[in-house]
Amino acid sequence: MCGIVGCFSPENCYEKLYSALTRLEYRGYDSAGIALLSAEGRFSVRKKKGGVASIAGEPLPGETGIGHTRWATHGAPSDGNAHPHLCGKFALVHNGIVENEAALRAELLAAGEQFLSETDSELIVRLIARAYRGDFFAAVASACARLEGSYAVAVLCADFPGEIVCARRGSPLVAGAGGGALYVCSDVPALCGAAEYICPAEDGEFVVIRGGKIGFCRADGTPIPKIFTRVRASARPRAVQAGSRMQAEIAEIPRALSDTLASLRDADFSCCRTAFRSAKRLLAVGCGTAYHAALCLRAVLEESGVFLSCRPASEAAGLCAGAGDLLIAVSQSGETADTLAAARAARERGAFVLAVTNVGQSSLASLAHCTAVMCAGPEIAVAATKSYNCQLLSLYFLAARILACRMGVPPAWAGDLAALPAAAERAFGCFPAVDSLAEALVGARGMYFLGRGADVATAREGALKVKEIAYLAAEGLPAGELKHGPLALVEDGFPVALLATVRSLARKCEAAAAEVAARGGRVALFSQYGEVLASSRAAYRIRLPAVAEALMPAVSVIPLQYFACRLCLLRGLDPDRPRNLAKSVTVE
Ligand code: G6P
Repeated sequence: MCGIVGCFSPENCYEKLYSALTRLEYRGYDSAGIALLSAEGRFSVRKKKGGVASIAGEPLPGETGIGHTRWATHGAPSDGNAHPHLCGKFALVHNGIVENEAALRAELLAAGEQFLSETDSELIVRLIARAYRGDFFAAVASACARLEGSYAVAVLCADFPGEIVCARRGSPLVAGAGGGALYVCSDVPALCGAAEYICPAEDGEFVVIRGGKIGFCRADGTPIPKIFTRVRASARPRAVQAGSRMQAEIAEIPRALSDTLASLRDADFSCCRTAFRSAKRLLAVGCGTAYHAALCLRAVLEESGVFLSCRPASEAAGLCAGAGDLLIAVSQSGETADTLAAARAARERGAFVLAVTNVGQSSLASLAHCTAVMCAGPEIAVAATKSYNCQLLSLYFLAARILACRMGVPPAWAGDLAALPAAAERAFGCFPAVDSLAEALVGARGMYFLGRGADVATAREGALKVKEIAYLAAEGLPAGELKHGPLALVEDGFPVALLATVRSLARKCEAAAAEVAARGGRVALFSQYGEVLASSRAAYRIRLPAVAEALMPAVSVIPLQYFACRLCLLRGLDPDRPRNLAKSVTVE
């Protein structure tokens, strides 16, 4: 989703803005733009189609500026549709969607306005310019009052050099200070390394930079007292020496798991005890990779006879979460609009909401009753890797608590959680075999990922990874479903990754391998059991490290994440910035 940033800095404002934009780029890279305002009230603007590098160049003059990285929704990626949008004395950057766009556009056209872009965002700057009577803040507040949908905006006005007025509803916005600069930004990770103190804005709040100070207020201008907190050092992205972000993030999995475990052990979940013990229904939602983590939670609870309903957050309405229910909302960023909407609706109807997120100051964390904060560290590559492993660890940790509350004793595998970081490290030992597999499959046009039980979620995640970054048509399926239709696509050389990590289901998995092999398909079998691998017809056999079966999805996914990354690189693609996608999707 788009990223916005604003900065006031008497020194090197351009450099600070540009550097923040590079850290925001994972939110979108269809176009980038920057506008600086000089002390004399002159704008300097540079905006272009493409990533942030496309606007690199000589520093622009000014002490105040705004910047934007775009993930196109309204209007194609182009120079003209790039932000900032300018009108009269104003420049604006926007993240979100104006839902009453058609009505506002018709009104503005009838009033004689001429649009320079196809974006909904340009409407906002035109509304501000029309509302302006000399009071900058009042003009922004009155324009925002007319918007339906979601927005985080940062606005400059030529009459007020040194000022930035920002507003938020439905899209994230955080204020920051540090290194002689004041910031507003779409998210915390992008401020790390720049701001020392941060404070997130809530929906309906405005952030104003004025007179060298930063403050919060309501639409009527009433100040809102806030406390800024220090940025945790672990929230800063580590420098990548070589290779892609995604490779570096896969390499960080063992450390991310041990940090997450340490933090979960220190956390206080006592407020969840009643919900854990006696919630009428257990429900879980998430999007993309986070949804697959929720599916793994379902598998581990069902194994012990405790039932959990699980939906992609965009389909959560059907769950009808309400009073007496526990809803677990899983989101790396804590800003995904579908997940926030599901959590908000559940909370409004009286459900207890437990968030599992990587960003403790996210919107999801602030709306949940309780939050399990994972310590994956900043995840920049668009395709989630280490955050998935940490989501699984966190969900298994919570599942152990839920089962202990409901059964009276914790599950047998609870003591094995501490073994996950080392098992993840051992999973790296599969990489040479996975390299060969990726080389063999580099020309493939499609593939299946199959599994049974908890392996179905891993199969889906493996398929999602190769779709996202290697652009391979891939499907993750229960192995038993193969014969009910998907087998029709299997022909000579068709690749199938088969997971067999549940010993009691291994024989049935081998039946799927036989069905594929009999049609000339190529099976790559992943299992921790030597005898399962030895007796298989699979063309490729990849030995996973051993760990308690219930926890295996947090480990068995690692070779699949790496496989997708290798396949992507072998195809000459950029794993960190897949086409059409954004890391944080803040529209429903
Ligand atoms: C986007 C990303 C996915 C991610 C999903 C949920 O679609 O491209 O990789 O899994 O959002 O993100 P979240 O931050 O809520 O986990």
